[in-house]
Amino acid sequence: MDAEDCTRDDGDYSNGIVYLVGGGPGDPGLLTLRGLDCLRKANVVVYDRLSNNLLLNYAPQASLIDVGKQSDHHPIPQECINDILIKEARQGKVVVRLKGGDPFVFGRGGEEAQALAEAGIPFEIVPGVTSAIAVPTYAGIPVTHRGLASSVAFVTGHCASQGSLDLNWQALAQGVDTLVFLMGVHNLPLIVSSLQEAGRPAETPVALIEQGTLPDQKVVVGTLADILNKAVGVQPPAIFIVGEVVNLHSALKWFKPEVEFSLGGTPLNRFQAGNSASAIG
Ligand SMILES: C[S@@+](CC[C@H](N)C(=O)[O-])C[C@H]1O[C@@H](n2cnc3c(N)ncnc32)[C@H](O)[C@@H]1O
Repeated sequence: MDAEDCTRDDGDYSNGIVYLVGGGPGDPGLLTLRGLDCLRKANVVVYDRLSNNLLLNYAPQASLIDVGKQSDHHPIPQECINDILIKEARQGKVVVRLKGGDPFVFGRGGEEAQALAEAGIPFEIVPGVTSAIAVPTYAGIPVTHRGLASSVAFVTGHCASQGSLDLNWQALAQGVDTLVFLMGVHNLPLIVSSLQEAGRPAETPVALIEQGTLPDQKVVVGTLADILNKAVGVQPPAIFIVGEVVNLHSALKWFKPEVEFSLGGTPLNRFQAGNSASAIG
């Protein structure tokens, strides 16, 4: 079966439709077949800073609208993005809203879907491979593991209000085996101290994974006690993972981008024709 066999006849979308497509965490090979199908039939692609620009090659016929956002800086407000989606669909276009990871995991996909529903625009949500799982996986860290972790939480490390993270630290520190923080680089000191104050032992293994699944992937492993010293220089996007599962990294690390890139001196397979700097903004 090839990708063509997975296409679906969506019927008449001459009145416009929006596909909210999860583009995966970075490695373009992690796009779903349904996502690929949507990109191929798109008239317009509205894309995100964290979606891999290489995926745009699957929509050579589409016009492209960049609505990428920087951390702490939102050049295009969410309401404007919603308006763009509605306006384009009302012109009878097939619109793909390409998002990093999964649209519904810290992706504002729910807000965009609500706006479309209120405007009476047909839409479909195509799940993506979330960085919350895939990035640890590419570092050889399973988020659950029999005997080590039977629960996992995905947590935002981004402050909604200035300087404070409105989280139940006690529940997170004492009630969940594996914690996966997204958007946590700038607040790493606050996260590390809050977890320890709430009862997580200082020797708990942790890892910070920058540019996960991409050629520039960098993994820093330590403990709650020493990660701040070890992680100097780590930049977003990064995942911070806390828990005993991090100890599996040394045995299970399998993704070696440096090897993929050095074999024969040519870039191989899934990262062909791209580099991380341009691939993920
Ligand atoms: C606004 S959230 C979007 C999450 C996305 N919807 C998902 O499901 O992966 C952005 C955060 O995702 C994480 N992230 C996304 N891609 C990543 C990558 N390739 N490597 C490390 N972290 C990543 C980072 O924590 C980043 O700050």
